[in-house]
Amino acid sequence: MKEVYVGMSADLVHPGHLNIINEAKKLGAVTIGLLTDKAIASYKRLPYMTFEQRKIVVENISGVAKVIPQETLDYTPNLEKLKPDFVVHGDDWKEGPQKSTREKVINTLAQWGGELVEVPYTQGISSSSLQSALKEIGITPDVRRKKLKRLIDAKNIVRILESHSGLTSLIVENLKVDVDNMPREFDGMWASSLTDSTLRGKPDIEAVDLTTRLQNLNDALESTSKPIIYDGDTGGKPEHFVFTVRTLERLGVSAIIIEDKIGLKKNSLFGTDVEQKQDSIENFCHKIKAGKNAQITDDFMIIARIESFIMGNPVEDAVERAKAYIDAGADGIMIHSKKKTTNEIVAFCKAYQNFEERRPLVAVPSSYNKISESELVELGVNVVIYANHMLRSSYPAMVKVAKSILSHGRSYEANDQCMPIKEILELIPGTK
Ligand code: SPV
Ligand code: MG
Repeated sequence: MKEVYVGMSADLVHPGHLNIINEAKKLGAVTIGLLTDKAIASYKRLPYMTFEQRKIVVENISGVAKVIPQETLDYTPNLEKLKPDFVVHGDDWKEGPQKSTREKVINTLAQWGGELVEVPYTQGISSSSLQSALKEIGITPDVRRKKLKRLIDAKNIVRILESHSGLTSLIVENLKVDVDNMPREFDGMWASSLTDSTLRGKPDIEAVDLTTRLQNLNDALESTSKPIIYDGDTGGKPEHFVFTVRTLERLGVSAIIIEDKIGLKKNSLFGTDVEQKQDSIENFCHKIKAGKNAQITDDFMIIARIESFIMGNPVEDAVERAKAYIDAGADGIMIHSKKKTTNEIVAFCKAYQNFEERRPLVAVPSSYNKISESELVELGVNVVIYANHMLRSSYPAMVKVAKSILSHGRSYEANDQCMPIKEILELIPGTK
């Protein structure tokens, strides 16, 4: 019997997949190379179902002899292992991000006389159209909450953008760019205390309470499906923190980051220009433990944010704290710095790489923003947060337009700086 290999994601199985498997089984024994989350996330959105869930579905499709993981978008490693007589694929990959993968498959098969068989693409149904239909249906808190951990497992770096409203959440949800022929998008949202406060004309000193901030959060939850990381400031008193954890977890938020400061919190980007106090390791560990005990699922993450560099303390202090917070149960560490240079961040990341008990590492390069994502990956950073850019970019744009209207006594001159009326009417589905 001939060996046939079919690579697929099989997230939302539809007649197109079954057609390919049917054609493949006419040629021999079918092995499905099921793309892992990591392989899929390298070129598109994380699948809706986990690898294990997708595997159960595919194993039970008639005509499938075997399912093995395909760890990369590139078929070569699996093909070289199996040396199949045929690879079967839909003919829709001749263009787009999978074009070079296809060429590689043809060349690899040629080494042992294997053949690529392409099945005409099934019109009228596709995973992408099902994905958008799913988006309209919405998402459950459970599925959304789990997504952050899945993304951290699947991606070199998880890319998070600040969002303070339903509108900015839609930008995070929908914006896509092509870089070197590969689609790229943000993976999730940061609910920033700075921008949530600023939006309300209040200082970033924990004056805007959880209930108020939940309004922004709720708008984000209603209009998107991507995961959310909540900026929990100091977390407050441990006795209060447990309620915050429960509330966020129930809503489907994936993680809270709390910073190891005590007393009246001021924004970290002030550094030592204002009086700020770092909590003791013991107190902060107690707070982490209280939060970990309060959560119900295994998916919710409590990430400990180390403010040593903000206080002007040395790397040794940050390292000692990271170890203690991980021992206390923190699911991740965020290291912060307000310097324009990266020396202290690099020193911490290098030390962190040698930790025996390592948890995902988060960086917020607001000041040291010349650093690129690939450099952060090199340093072992797992999550990058662009923490305030939606609000910081909108304010000057609004001031400019307001000035123009004021100066000219009419709005005509500001036309070019505003989105066309037709566009705003079409921006939000259901406006018509
Ligand atoms: C925020 O976005 O509110 C943060 C990050 O906590 S920072 O402003 O850099 O402190
Ligand atoms: Mg904050």
